Amino acid sequence: MNRRYRKTIIAGNWKMNKTISETKAFAEELKPLLGKPKWCEVVLCVPYVNIPAAVRAFKDSRVAIGAENCHSESHGAYTGEVTVEMLKEAGVKYVIIGHSERRQYYNETDFTVNKKVRAALDAGLYPIVCVGESLEQRELGVTMELITYQVKVALAGVPADKMRHVVIAYEPLWAIGTGKTATAEQAGEVCEAIRAVVRKLYGARVARSVTIQYGGSMNARNAAELLAQPDVDGGLIGGASLKAPDFVQIVNAANQE
Ligand code: PGA
Repeated sequence: MNRRYRKTIIAGNWKMNKTISETKAFAEELKPLLGKPKWCEVVLCVPYVNIPAAVRAFKDSRVAIGAENCHSESHGAYTGEVTVEMLKEAGVKYVIIGHSERRQYYNETDFTVNKKVRAALDAGLYPIVCVGESLEQRELGVTMELITYQVKVALAGVPADKMRHVVIAYEPLWAIGTGKTATAEQAGEVCEAIRAVVRKLYGARVARSVTIQYGGSMNARNAAELLAQPDVDGGLIGGASLKAPDFVQIVNAANQE
């Protein structure tokens, strides 16, 4: 973390978990435990149908609500899809784009990710853009090339002045939902490389102000060590965001002056 230049952001990714009533109950449990974190932004990305309930339940708190996906078109015949304008009007601030599960199960590519990122930014949303390598790619030694490519394509056509809304999440596929976390050094190394790509594209000032998260089996035990890396500015948390006490412990690890 480097709070002098950029925001620290802890974001939960609920994936396909919790109903509306469970969302409300979670909010009532979380709010008193969380208090008002001063040094980091807290986000909960929830299933579409839970968004109105989450926005209402966290209205009087510092928790911002995010979506887990969006479509890139503004309207049309895309059965089952949701536009960025719909999310914006529902009170959403952040939207996860290009999560590896979307890439794996729903054929999202770096090019669809780029379209969604631009649509989200045009609507005034804050995209959390996910990048990451598979175990095979890491073992082949192509992690940095792949990440560079993913970041470059995701940000194609994004003007410098919109970059203050962009969050990048480094999520190695082999660490997601596996209980196998990247070491702090591995996470730090790739997050540093991502910042270097942003620096090449947009210059030093933009690069030092962009928030880069780590995601992949981040939990209450390993959060502090990961966040101690200078280029790891927060976390995208799956499993550990489903239980309020666990999530609060991660926020506390990030909420340090
Ligand atoms: P995990 O998920 O924390 O359960 O590994 C992270 C993510 O998919 O964003």
